[in-house]
Amino acid sequence: MDLGLRGKNAIVTGGTGSLGFAISEVLAEEGCNVIIIHRHDTEERDKMIKELSDRTGVKVKAYVCDLSSEEEVLKLFEKLDEEYDHLDVLVNNAQGGAKRGGIADTDYDDWMSAIDGIVNPVYRMCREFIRRAIEKGIHGNIVNVSAKSAEYAKHKMKIGYTACKGMINAMTKRIADDYCEQGIRVNSIMPGYIWGGFFHGDESVQKAWEAECGLRIGWATPRDLANIVAFLASDCSKQIIGVNLDTSGGTMLG
Ligand SMILES: NC(=O)c1ccc[n+]([C@@H]2O[C@H](COP(=O)([O-])OP(=O)(O)OC[C@H]3O[C@@H](n4cnc5c(N)ncnc54)[C@H](OP(=O)(O)O)[C@@H]3O)[C@@H](O)[C@H]2O)c1
Repeated sequence: MDLGLRGKNAIVTGGTGSLGFAISEVLAEEGCNVIIIHRHDTEERDKMIKELSDRTGVKVKAYVCDLSSEEEVLKLFEKLDEEYDHLDVLVNNAQGGAKRGGIADTDYDDWMSAIDGIVNPVYRMCREFIRRAIEKGIHGNIVNVSAKSAEYAKHKMKIGYTACKGMINAMTKRIADDYCEQGIRVNSIMPGYIWGGFFHGDESVQKAWEAECGLRIGWATPRDLANIVAFLASDCSKQIIGVNLDTSGGTMLG
């Protein structure tokens, strides 16, 4: 299926991470210019990005920005306004800052750090993207990367992460409802277990995780999820609005 993404300008936050880079790859292969946002520029990442751009022939460019900072996000969009005529797609994939533990194991700073690292980046990116889409009359597509654990508490002791992903699910529906008539679509995916990012290690570690996670069709690969994101980022999914999509491979059916 041709997703019709050729020539679109797509932002991928955390686009150098495990899932984020797979999303960047699939969008570039579909012909999108990819705008990667991350915090740390390294030689290895520069090389990955150049290789992707050379292989696909589209513009792939990374910008350093800490999405937990209001000031840095505003500066980022000033730069993007200068370099891109408009923005078509936003994938909110970056996250960080949540300490593991139950509520009794955390203090207020831990709680605020989760909100600042997981929810605030999505808030800021959606706000700036939607303001521009409305101003320019663009039909924009937003895909938020949530987590199935927001809805199904299979694993204990992740209060900050779970609560913040639940907030992203609620934001997805709210923003979708507020702006769908202006041509802005918002959905989220809720992955379960992806091998290669947070879940990684040698064979014994892998076996231990497999026993704990109760995988039913094996691990998801970053690419499995990236294909779903690309579909949601395209107008091929235009009847899907405000959906938090279970992409956990049946591991948390409840
Ligand atoms: N892995 C799983 O099994 C799983 C399951 C369910 C949901 N998810 C969700 O999938 C998404 C990606 O997870 P992942 O495991 O692929 O992550 P990852 O490999 O740890 O990559 C995270 C990316 O986000 C960037 N980032 C983090 N905080 C940032 C900030 N404040 N500003 C800008 N960039 C920031 C990182 O950039 P720097 O490295 O430069 O900081 C990095 O590029 C997350 O939303 C996660 O919750 C993952």
